[in-house]
Amino acid sequence: MAFKTVEISPNVFWVGIEDWNRRFFDAFIPLPNGTSYNSYLIVGKEKTALIDTVNPGFEKILLKKISQIVPPGKIDYIIMNHAEPDHAGGILEVMKVAPNAKVVATKLGVDMTKIYFDVPSERRISVKDGDTLELGQKTLKFIEAPWLHWPETMFTFNMEDSVLFTCDFLGSHITSDKLFADEVGGLLMPEAKRYYAEIMMPFSASAQKALDKVNLLNPKIIAPSHGPVHRNPQSIIEAYEKWTRGPLEKKVIVVYVSMWGSTQTLERIITETISTEGVETVPYNLTVADISHVLRDLVDASAVVIGTPTVLGGAHPLALYATELIASFGVRGKIAAIFGSFGWGGGATRRVKLRLEKGGFEVVYTLDVRGPPKPAHIEKAVSLGKAVAKRVKEAT
Ligand SMILES: Cc1cc2nc3c(=O)[nH]c(=O)nc-3n(C[C@H](O)[C@H](O)[C@H](O)COP(=O)(O)O)c2cc1C
Ligand SMILES: [Fe+2]
Ligand SMILES: [Fe+2]
Repeated sequence: MAFKTVEISPNVFWVGIEDWNRRFFDAFIPLPNGTSYNSYLIVGKEKTALIDTVNPGFEKILLKKISQIVPPGKIDYIIMNHAEPDHAGGILEVMKVAPNAKVVATKLGVDMTKIYFDVPSERRISVKDGDTLELGQKTLKFIEAPWLHWPETMFTFNMEDSVLFTCDFLGSHITSDKLFADEVGGLLMPEAKRYYAEIMMPFSASAQKALDKVNLLNPKIIAPSHGPVHRNPQSIIEAYEKWTRGPLEKKVIVVYVSMWGSTQTLERIITETISTEGVETVPYNLTVADISHVLRDLVDASAVVIGTPTVLGGAHPLALYATELIASFGVRGKIAAIFGSFGWGGGATRRVKLRLEKGGFEVVYTLDVRGPPKPAHIEKAVSLGKAVAKRVKEAT
């Protein structure tokens, strides 16, 4: 049986795995389209290198794919751009069948191969920014790109073919029988943005530095470790430019939860007021929302409004969860408002406010309502909506 491999450039082969069945990443991000673990084989005149491996469980198929091109025992180098198991989890299996293969990584990456995989020290090579490795008419240059999204991450540039291997950076959770981004169609950008939001948004400052390096290299092909390969990389680079440092949109996210409808009544008034003021609103009822869609909208929203009833003296657990993510994900914009209903002592909005402020947010309005909203409360909800819309219009 022939397993799929694709020659993306002369003697540069995709030997990755399509994981059609995976339904969650990081144990909380839904994967409606599965994902892929892209591994690449570079066959030089003298040496052979494998760029990243695959998620544990798929090593045997990886080795079968490699053996359709060269005997796996011939691999000289396993380039580990990132130590996370979805890409580095197969290195031990490859090292077993390739007795001369050494793992090449950043200094921190090399340390992590010891901690995660117990790679013996004589089989580890550490490289620095700008170092090169000669394979024979294929030269690999290593580019340090830390904190994308772990501290040890790097890129590998195949200089002759102008192929940049970026591991998680510029990837997406898409499984498709089409390998190239230009064949995937309209699914690509919304999925690439959802992926960016979860993996890279907390590290947008590192992503900006990495983008500068990518722009300098000006690669013909960008080959990430998840999702399609970009053979016209300009569109994904432009998208990352916008997501990391482009202007924010005139858009507000309203995330809320309500047990008996009071907080929801306020939400309707607030969302419609902001919308009537000419600012786009995206409401997310947390009982049914996909949290990865909330994160995706946070990439370029100008403000966040959080609504929660009081439960046991604090916020509703779903609101706590969303607040924690919003406060810790390095969201740009950083303007927020909070509202909610309570029955006796309250406490929900105070709890959310503390967390958002710790995350660097400016909370411009807080509204607490006892029980179901009365006309006076509705007026206050309108004021909240107007205050948020005004700030957003001033900022965009
Ligand atoms: C499980 C549960 C726990 C609650 N705990 C508190 C509380 O500690 N303090 C308080 O002021 N109200 C508490 N309440 C009352 C709600 O905050 C109040 O009914 C509120 O109006 C509900 O808003 P909603 O209609 O948006 O769900 C609790 C309600 C429930 C169902
Ligand atoms: Fe990763
Ligand atoms: Fe990954």
